[in-house]
Amino acid sequence: MNRVTDKAPNDPNVRSTVTMLIFVNTAQVVTCAGPPRARRGREMSNLETIPNGAVVVTGERIEAVGKEADLRGRYSTATEIDCGGYVLAPGLVDSHTHAVFGRARYDEQEMRAAGMDYMAIAARGGGIHSSVRDLRTRGEDDLVALTRPRLLRLASYGITTVEVKSGYGLTLGDELKTLRVIARLSSELPLRIVPTFLGAHEIPLEQRGSAASREEYVSSLVNEMIPRVAAEKLARFADVFCEMGVYTVPQSRRILEAARAHGLLLKLHADELTSCGGAELAAELGATSADHLGAVSDAGVRALANSSTVATLLPGTMLFLGKSTRAPARQLIDAGVAVALATDFNPGTSPTPNLPLILTLGVSQLHLSAGEALIASTVNGAAALGLADSIGQLTPGFSADLALFEMGDLRELPYWYGDRRCLGTWVRGKTCHPSHLRVT
Ligand code: NIG
Ligand code: FE
Repeated sequence: MNRVTDKAPNDPNVRSTVTMLIFVNTAQVVTCAGPPRARRGREMSNLETIPNGAVVVTGERIEAVGKEADLRGRYSTATEIDCGGYVLAPGLVDSHTHAVFGRARYDEQEMRAAGMDYMAIAARGGGIHSSVRDLRTRGEDDLVALTRPRLLRLASYGITTVEVKSGYGLTLGDELKTLRVIARLSSELPLRIVPTFLGAHEIPLEQRGSAASREEYVSSLVNEMIPRVAAEKLARFADVFCEMGVYTVPQSRRILEAARAHGLLLKLHADELTSCGGAELAAELGATSADHLGAVSDAGVRALANSSTVATLLPGTMLFLGKSTRAPARQLIDAGVAVALATDFNPGTSPTPNLPLILTLGVSQLHLSAGEALIASTVNGAAALGLADSIGQLTPGFSADLALFEMGDLRELPYWYGDRRCLGTWVRGKTCHPSHLRVT
């Protein structure tokens, strides 16, 4: 393997070896190159495609992107990776999952098919509460063993960055346990993992009885859990399920303000099933993203359009719950809101690891163009994690996070629905999902 050497910046005697790769023989390289921030309106359609393109990677970063004919000569010592005539693209970013849980909840799918509603199942102690009871009985090792293959499955569809939330513990100990599971997997796997504290996923059953005990749980989030999570640096974001019957807008505001004061960035499950002012709250607090928005109001759309908050749409949940309502994606994009798409991978409302399938729903049900759906799951997914300046596009200086898809045009990704066309991924220049490509 060819290597280039460079000097470590602070010690001229220490030399490190850095691998240089050149990805060649592509049908096209889709770069999504552009400003290092969320894309809005018409910007969401610009994929920036280079037919027969090549990408040069030095160590963890992208060195150069261009026509293969131009780059081959300039980087003749780099190790070649033959892309087999297929499409090279930025690795996909799944900016919303709840991947740490115990048992599957297939029983609830049948209950819904028989006519029971998601919130009605929760009101009987099922739903999130059922996953909470289960997770509390499990140890860290057990949860690591359950979560590892799920994350690898997500990666096998082309994801190179995944956000993972806690939220099935709902006690200090069980939430810390969940976040430690995420931290362990983050250091073990090549996948880039972004942790979110969602101690406000539900109000624990044992504290739902009275308004006073519900407020007591909110106080424990604010005074005990958030400070501890922040002190142990176990999360980048804090999130709240702001929904009728779960957290009210004032409670959500109190929790998120405490999180912000402790240096956490903010997310919000907003207006998922009912319109209750979640989008407005996310915009007001400067949240990085407002997620779901199945029932967002016109005022909520306006508030998001005037903010830097990314609207993360999760159409897999509506499909799986059998609901006919849809987030108003076109209205959001046309109003100038930056839209992202994510799986919401979780055991209750969206047990799919297939982000390309979510892109299919983005096009077929939310009326995005294929280009918009692709920007929504790369650049705007990165923006929904506050990472648009380092991942989500193939531009010199950005992290070498790439995905190779077995197709001639990236717009086929939402088209071959349900299929797995990813042949390999690289994160920080290292193989993440194994590719079977020839290295010459
Ligand atoms: O994003 N809405 C809240 N949380 C998840 C569902 C979690 C569950 O049902 O276990 C969601 O849809
Ligand atoms: Fe969610």
